[in-house]
Amino acid sequence: MKTILTGDRPTGRLHLGHYFGSLENRVKMQYDYDTYILIADVQALTDNFNNPSKVRENVKELALDYLAAGIDPKQSHIYIQSLIPEATELTVYFSNLVSVPRLYRNPTTKYEVAQKKELFGDSGEGITYGFLGYPVSQAADIACVNGNIVPVGDDQLPHIEQTREILRKFNNIYGETFNIPEAVLSSTPRIKGLDGNEKMSKSLNNCIYLSDTEEEINKKVMSAVTDPSKIRKDDPANPEVCMVYYYHKLIKNPNLPKVCSECKNGERGCVYCKKELVRALVEFLEPIQKRRKYYEERPEEVERILKEGTYATKKKAEEVMRRVKENMKLNYFE
Ligand code: TRP
Ligand code: SF4
Repeated sequence: MKTILTGDRPTGRLHLGHYFGSLENRVKMQYDYDTYILIADVQALTDNFNNPSKVRENVKELALDYLAAGIDPKQSHIYIQSLIPEATELTVYFSNLVSVPRLYRNPTTKYEVAQKKELFGDSGEGITYGFLGYPVSQAADIACVNGNIVPVGDDQLPHIEQTREILRKFNNIYGETFNIPEAVLSSTPRIKGLDGNEKMSKSLNNCIYLSDTEEEINKKVMSAVTDPSKIRKDDPANPEVCMVYYYHKLIKNPNLPKVCSECKNGERGCVYCKKELVRALVEFLEPIQKRRKYYEERPEEVERILKEGTYATKKKAEEVMRRVKENMKLNYFE
C-alpha cells in the first residue's frame, strides 16, 4: 500500500480554500492509502517563534477541523510534528543536500517573506535560517514515513519539487533509501475569494471558514462581488464574472442551471441569489460542523486520537531512520 503524507501549519482555522484545495481529496484518498496527516507545529514556529501560545491553541483547532472535515481516525494517523524527533534529525542531514541560493529561489518562500515584512524586514533581509530552511524540514516530514503521495494546494508545489530534488540526491549519494514523492492537486487547487481575489487566504481577509456560523456566512456573502453591470434586479447579467455564481458552482448547488439561466435572462435579483447561496453553504457545512461539535464535546477522545496517530508515525519513522543511519554509515554500535 502506498503512503500519503500531508498536513498544515496550525496557525488558524481551515477554510473552504483548504477544503476544496486538498482536504476533500485527503478525505477521499485515506481509504486507499496508508495516510499520515501532520499538524506542523515546528513549521508554524518558523514564522511564529515569538508566539508559542498561538501555535499551541491552533494545534487543537486544526485537529478539530481535520476530524470535522472527515479525516477518519480509523483510516488516518493524525500526528504532531514536534513529537517526531526523527524528522528533526533528518532535516539536519538533508540540509547538506540543498544550496542556500536554491532555497532563496523557492517562489512560495519568496511570496511569504514579502508578506511578513514585520518579521523579516522590508526586503526580506532579516529572513531567518529556520524560515529559509523550512522546505528542508518539509522534505524530512515526507521522507520520515517514506511517503509516496502528497495531496496539497498549489502553493505547496515548489516545496514538493524541492523535496524530490533532495531525496534524489540522497538516494544517489547514500544508496536507494526513499521513494520520490508526488504532489496530488485537486481539480480546484486554488479557490477564489468572494471578493474576487484570485485566492482565498487569511491574510486577504476573505475566507469562509469551515466553522463559520450562518450569521458570519451571511455577512460575507452579502458583500460578495457580482456582475458590476447589473444595477437593477431585472437587468440581465453574466454569471461567469460573478463570485456568487462561482460559489454556487463550487459547492455543486443542484439548482445551478436555473441560477445561470435566470441570471442571464434578468429573472433573478442578486440579493435573492445571495440568500440562496447562504442557504446552500450552511447546508454544505452542516455535516462538517456536526462532527466538529461531537469532537469539541469530547476533548479526551481528540487527545487519544492525536496520541495514537503520533505513536504510529513515530514507529514508522524509527524504522525509516534505521535504514537512513545504515546507509549513511552512522549505525555505530549495531
Ligand atoms: N507547508 C505546509 C503548510 O504551509 C505544512 C507542511 C509541513 C506540509 N510539512 C508538510 C505539507 C509536508 C505537506 C507535506 O501548511
Ligand atoms: Fe451573480 Fe446571481 Fe447576481 Fe447573477 S443574479 S450577477 S449570478 S448574484
